[in-house]
Amino acid sequence: MKLKSAAPLLLALASAGCNNQPTPVAFDVKALMATQVQPTAETYWNSVQYISDAAGSRKIEPKTDADWARTQEAAAKLREYGEKMKSPAVSAGRGTDWADYAQGLTDIATQAEQAAKERNPDKVFQIGGSIYNVCSACHEVYMPSPGGGSPAVAGATAAETPAK
Ligand code: HEC
Repeated sequence: MKLKSAAPLLLALASAGCNNQPTPVAFDVKALMATQVQPTAETYWNSVQYISDAAGSRKIEPKTDADWARTQEAAAKLREYGEKMKSPAVSAGRGTDWADYAQGLTDIATQAEQAAKERNPDKVFQIGGSIYNVCSACHEVYMPSPGGGSPAVAGATAAETPAK
């Protein structure tokens, strides 16, 4: 009987504690990352790859207009995500350097877009590496367990992105 009555009290205390915390950031960065940023970055990274394996060395790069358009569009979207992350809705309650990291993504994505416009595979490849570094820099500071899942490296892209 005593235990039964103690439980609601503990719950009440726990939620009172929560109310003293700073207002939680409402925007779901995790979802944005998982469903938008990561897949879009992969589209960009995967568009130019230098593969060297048992079958020899080969190069994958955009060939058709549609291929290049996809690469360019991915870069443009990454730029928008950078802008979005810089917006008050997302940056509220975070450190002052958050906006700098977000701006970093916007800046590198602008270069990425330009490289795709120029249809320059080497440049796309090179900037792809820089994008990875920009992702990682923010993760080092703001991801709950940076490096834990190496989120920016996935499958085939692992070979092209510098392991930090
Ligand atoms: C301005 C900061 C910032 C930038 C720039 C950034 N991220 Fe993130 N990212 C985060 C934060 C914060 C989390 C952790 C979110 C959480 O777990 O609540 C995260 C988490 C992730 C995750 C894990 C999502 C999950 O389901 O747990 C992936 C994948 C990811 N980011 C990919 C990327 C990629 C790819 C880029 C670059 C193109 C990038 N991020 C750039 C802040 C950033």
